[in-house]
Amino acid sequence: MLPYFFLSKQLPDALIPTIPGPEMPLACLTDFQAFARERLPKSTWDFIEGGADDSFTRDDNIAAFKRIRLRPRYLKNVVNVDTRTTIQGEEITAPICISPTGFHCLVWPDGEMSTARAAQAAGVCYITSTFATCALEDIAATAPRGLRWFQLYVHPDRQLSKQLVQRVESLGFKALVITVDVPKLGNRRHDIRNQLDLKLNLLLKDLHSPKEIDALAEVVAAVKGTMEVYLDGGIRTGNDVLKALALGAKCVFLGRPILWGLAYKGEDGVKELLNIIKNEFHTSMALTGCQSVAEINQDMIQFSRL
Ligand SMILES: Cc1cc2nc3c(=O)[nH]c(=O)nc-3n(C[C@H](O)[C@H](O)[C@H](O)COP(=O)(O)O)c2cc1C
Repeated sequence: MLPYFFLSKQLPDALIPTIPGPEMPLACLTDFQAFARERLPKSTWDFIEGGADDSFTRDDNIAAFKRIRLRPRYLKNVVNVDTRTTIQGEEITAPICISPTGFHCLVWPDGEMSTARAAQAAGVCYITSTFATCALEDIAATAPRGLRWFQLYVHPDRQLSKQLVQRVESLGFKALVITVDVPKLGNRRHDIRNQLDLKLNLLLKDLHSPKEIDALAEVVAAVKGTMEVYLDGGIRTGNDVLKALALGAKCVFLGRPILWGLAYKGEDGVKELLNIIKNEFHTSMALTGCQSVAEINQDMIQFSRL
């Protein structure tokens, strides 16, 4: 006898795919990921999500955060939790900013312009990639009050790099983020299969490093408070943000999740996604008894023995 759903043409609830659509509110960053996977063309999805070789480092970065546990603190006054902080002397609403990723127009029609407006509205920093697909002038003009930094690959033609630096400086980009970890391209299997032009996929810097979270404590110890240390790679929840700060990062940056937000609803999608992770971080601070970002320290976490 056939199961009843073949007869009724209705799937039982348990078999209905749980990919949320825009009609269903998305509740966490991985909901946006599921939406993007469902809606983007396969080659675009593979470009965003694919790591180098077996993608071990990408997966390790995410798993590493899960091995750290928060230590809740009770009976603390957390009525006025304040997530604001500063980077390079500029105030941001939370230590959660936007990593450089190229080719936003693959994901949403006015790509980087939407991202820039969302970052401005959220009050966080947006690092624009050398491989932005909108003109830098348009990105600056669409979000004139936004804090923007520029990610640079230093070109062998130093004159070309100099001109680019002068151009971004005149457009109000406040800092240069120089990518130094691409002596050679990773072997991006998905893009090769999809025949994407590898010249366009120049780097995935997190995929060339050991796990960022392992490197973090070493870097923080080495710089001895002389400079701010930031982390990107694998941040997916507000708890992850708190863990990174507890290990000494001043701020974290999101790469892929921003592209998932763009794929969902452009500017509004990125705003929504940033709002969700900022709210999660606010909750994490309250649960660990922190009213201000400055109070976050190593005592708030422990490494799981599981
Ligand atoms: C599709 C894609 C494009 C990227 N483009 C750049 C880039 O142009 N410049 C750069 O320095 N890093 C680039 N990155 C690396 C990101 O800045 C970031 O380090 C990485 O995505 C890890 O963060 P995540 O785990 O939040 O994605 C890119 C990453 C992805 C996934």
